[in-house]
Amino acid sequence: MVKETRTTVGIIGAGPAGLLLARLLFKAGIDSVVIESKDREYVEQRQRAGILEQGSVDALRECGAGERMDKEGIPHDGIELLFDKQRYPIHFPSLTGGRQVMIYAQTEVCKDLIALQLKEGGPLHFECEALAVEDPKTDNPKIRFRHKDGEEEILSCDYVVGCDGFWGVARKAIPESIATVYEKTYPFAWLGILADVPPSNDELIYARHPRGFSLLSMRSPTVSRYYIQVPAGEDIKEWSDERIWDEIEKRTETNDGWKVQRGPIFQKSVLPMRSYVHEPMQYGRVYLAGDAAHIVPPTGAKGLNLAFGDVVTLAKALKHKVDTGSDELLNNYSDRCIGRVWQAERFSYDMTNLLHTDPNASAFEDRLQVARLKRMVSNPHAETDLALAYTGFPL
Ligand code: FAD
Ligand code: DHB
Repeated sequence: MVKETRTTVGIIGAGPAGLLLARLLFKAGIDSVVIESKDREYVEQRQRAGILEQGSVDALRECGAGERMDKEGIPHDGIELLFDKQRYPIHFPSLTGGRQVMIYAQTEVCKDLIALQLKEGGPLHFECEALAVEDPKTDNPKIRFRHKDGEEEILSCDYVVGCDGFWGVARKAIPESIATVYEKTYPFAWLGILADVPPSNDELIYARHPRGFSLLSMRSPTVSRYYIQVPAGEDIKEWSDERIWDEIEKRTETNDGWKVQRGPIFQKSVLPMRSYVHEPMQYGRVYLAGDAAHIVPPTGAKGLNLAFGDVVTLAKALKHKVDTGSDELLNNYSDRCIGRVWQAERFSYDMTNLLHTDPNASAFEDRLQVARLKRMVSNPHAETDLALAYTGFPL
C-alpha cells in the first residue's frame, strides 16, 4: 500500500514561484505542502536572476519576507544602454512616476523564503521528486512522489500547483488536445560569471556591440555579475577567465575613458535562451505557475518577476474561494495571467533582438538595430515605454 497524506494545496517545486506561493497561502491561513526534488543547498545556491521589479519587492515585503532584502538589496533608478562606444542613461523614476527596481539575487530570495517556510509554514519536503499529477479533473487531484530512499507517497489535495519549472511534470497533466504551445529558440546563449570585484558602474549596462551583447550587473558592493552573448550550445571549457575578461572589455569599450575592472571569477556557466508559452495555464484543479508555464529569454530580467505575478494572482484566487466559496477567480486564473505573460514575452523578445548580434543578420539589419537603439535614447516616448516595461507590468 502506498502511503497517502492530505493537504489543501499541493505545490510541486521550491523555486521562487513555489516558495512565494507557500508563503502567501500561509499568510492567508490556507494549508499547503511543498515537494522539491533537489536538496536545500542546491536550491539555495542555484545562480539565476538578479532583478526584482517594484511589484515583486512589494509582494515580498507584504508577506513578511522583505527584511533582509531591504537591508542588503541594492535599489536601482535605471540602466544604461551602451552602443557605438557611447553610454546612454535611462532614468526610471522620472519616466514612470517614481518606479525603481531592486538588485537582490534569486538565491537570496529563495534562502529567505525557505527559512520562513521551515520556521512558520507548512511542510517543505526536499529531495522528493514528483512523478505525476493524477486525477486533475476531479475535486481531489493527487501528487504521486518519491522520497530519497525510493519510497513512494501520494499527496491528496484540493488543488495542485505546478511550480516545477520548464522540465517539471505538472504540465503533463494538461492533455495535449486542449493545449497550445508557442515557442522560439535563439541561435545564441549567455555566458554568466560571478567575480570578486566591485561593480565597475553604479547602474546596470546593457551593451550592443558588433562582437555580441554583454550585460554588466552586480550582486553586492564587492561582487559583480556579468554576462556575454555566446553561440547556442557553447562549451564553457572554451572560455578561460582571461578570454572572458578580454571579451567583456572589448564589448564595453567607450569613448569616455571608462573601463571595466577585472577580478577573480568564482563561478561561470552557459545559460540557454528560449521563449515559450503554454496555454492554458490550468486544467481542472491543476494550475501552472512560473517557468512551468512560460519561459522568456533573460534580456530584461522578467522570468522571476513573471513567476511572482502568477502566484500572487493564484493566491488571491484561492483566498477568494475560501472566503466566498466562489470559483470565479480560480476559473479565470489563466486568462488573468496570460496578458501579462505575453507583454513580458514581447518585451524580452524585443530587448533580445535589439541588443544581440544575430550571426545570420545582414548589414542592413545591423544598421536597423542601431537605428532602433538611437530612437530609444532620443525619443521620450520610446524611453518611457522601456522604463515602464522594465520596472514591471502591473499585477
Ligand atoms: P524554477 O526556479 O525553475 O523552480 C522550479 C523548481 O521545481 C526547482 O527547484 C526544481 O528543482 C523543482 N522541480 C522540478 N521538477 C520537479 C519534480 N518533478 N518534483 C519536484 N520538484 C521539481 N531570469 C532572469 O530574470 N534573469 C536571469 O539572469 C536568469 N537566469 C537564468 C538562468 C537559468 C539557467 C535558468 C534556468 C533561468 C534563469 N532565469 C533568469 C529565469 C528565472 O530564474 C526563472 O524564471 C525563475 O527561476 C522561475 O521560477 P520558478 O519557481 O517558476 O521555476
Ligand atoms: C540580471 C539578469 C538579467 O537577465 C538582467 O536582464 C539583468 C540583471 C542579473 O542577473 O543581475
